[in-house]
Amino acid sequence: MVANVERASLRRDIDGLVELETLSFQRPWSRQMLIDELSKVSVSEAFVVRINQDSLVGYCSWRLIEGELYLNNLAIHPEHRRQGLARLLLMHLTQDATSRGVRSIMLEVRSSNAAALKLYWRMGFKRVGMRPDYYTNPVEDAVLLSKSLAQNC
Ligand SMILES: CC(C)(COP(=O)(O)OP(=O)(O)OC[C@H]1O[C@@H](n2cnc3c(N)ncnc32)[C@H](O)[C@@H]1OP(=O)(O)O)[C@@H](O)C(=O)NCCC(=O)NCCS
Repeated sequence: MVANVERASLRRDIDGLVELETLSFQRPWSRQMLIDELSKVSVSEAFVVRINQDSLVGYCSWRLIEGELYLNNLAIHPEHRRQGLARLLLMHLTQDATSRGVRSIMLEVRSSNAAALKLYWRMGFKRVGMRPDYYTNPVEDAVLLSKSLAQNC
């Protein structure tokens, strides 16, 4: 398997992004939410991961605000998990952000999401807070995580 990461193209990738959201989240972003978010080209960005130059099997999207990157979503297709693809996406994102002078990456994750918490911990993120009852359906706390990039600049 050859995997590569590249910037998302809304036109090419929208169907794959909708599928990934639906397969990956209890409250997935709808097609319209994805279009609205990723059309804000100066605010919102996304990377996709493809295998064998074709199939879209993962993505992450973020906003860059005053030197801080806020990760909105990260998902890998269920049939392609535990193959290092989320790690690959996060490494690519970290390198890209560092080269642009980003100071830190922030994100929230459901407190029960053990897979994501382990992934982020392995990638050097630190827990910096909690947001009680942040999520709905089901109601759940968010764990706030941060990774400082300052030492890499
Ligand atoms: C969380 C998610 C993105 C991980 O994607 P992935 O491609 O399977 O992750 P990777 O293969 O890159 O795993 C890297 C490391 O993360 C940890 N990890 C990933 N999935 C795990 C799981 N199910 N259980 C325990 N640890 C896990 C492991 O430490 C793993 O390293 P290892 O395989 O050498 O043990 C994927 O499970 C997913 O899309 N989940 C649904 C959406 C989601 O929860 N997104 C995060 C919201 S913030």
